[in-house]
Amino acid sequence: MDFVKFEIREQIAYVTIDRQTKLNALNKAVLDELEQCFLDIKKNTEIRVVILTGAGEKAFVAGADINQFPSMTPEEAYTFSKRGQAIFSLIESSRKPVIAAVNGFALGGGCELAMACHLRYASENAVFGQPEVKLGVIAGFGGTQRLPRIVGTGHALEMLLTGKMIKAKKAAEIGLVNDVFPLSELMSRVEEIAGVMLQQAPQSQAFTLRAVNGGVELPLENGLDLEASAFQDVFRTEDRVEGARAFLDHRLPEFKNK
Ligand code: COA
Repeated sequence: MDFVKFEIREQIAYVTIDRQTKLNALNKAVLDELEQCFLDIKKNTEIRVVILTGAGEKAFVAGADINQFPSMTPEEAYTFSKRGQAIFSLIESSRKPVIAAVNGFALGGGCELAMACHLRYASENAVFGQPEVKLGVIAGFGGTQRLPRIVGTGHALEMLLTGKMIKAKKAAEIGLVNDVFPLSELMSRVEEIAGVMLQQAPQSQAFTLRAVNGGVELPLENGLDLEASAFQDVFRTEDRVEGARAFLDHRLPEFKNK
């Protein structure tokens, strides 16, 4: 892969978008490689947690590649939007936790990519924004939908209608990121959080993601049904026996992802 680096270390997959001369902007090749990575992650049973970040110290992803816009027809724009949305939905639907380590500019498609991840941690220099209105376009990779769901309509519309950029601290205040760390500590702090996840039952995490992602848009009653069926399914796993036994035996559980 030319623009997306993919490594697995100690059950963590590191996906790093690396197109630094263009601040990791998403062109067709980057999107294709990103999709391939997440298709591989889905199949790989060794991977338990994914950390997605941008190469360098300046940008997570500075958006979709603006070079494509001048010649893009409305029909191509629709296809481009659907393509980006599908890849980001693939990330969001992962049954393994995906953590965005936002290490700089997360603008347009970069902010949308971070929002498709399950958790977001930012470095102090990170900057978030949906600047599409400045370019005469709109957010097309899920920004008009995920941003209001994450931060509420007021904050979302402020960002989407003004195009203004917000710093990491403000992003944390409005709930766009979980926490903010110095850039030099970002990866180690995110790895600590990933490490805590690695101690827990993998199937429990998969079913939790299924219940939360599947239920969040449903009426409460339907969401509760989904939860009950996920609760039922987790009781088919061996790890739930191990989890309860270990607690009762006063020892640490040894989960087998079964
Ligand atoms: N698409 C294509 N190229 C991009 C890009 C994008 N979204 N964002 C940055 N780049 C390119 C720049 O064109 C520049 O390339 P060049 O050296 O060939 O001219 C390179 O990345 C470095 O960016 P530059 O603008 O020189 O850095 P800066 O520090 O002055 O500014 C930003 C950084 C992020 C504020 C600025 O690059 C920017 O506003 N980018 C566009 C963000 C955006 O609107 N994203 C949404 C797209 S829908």
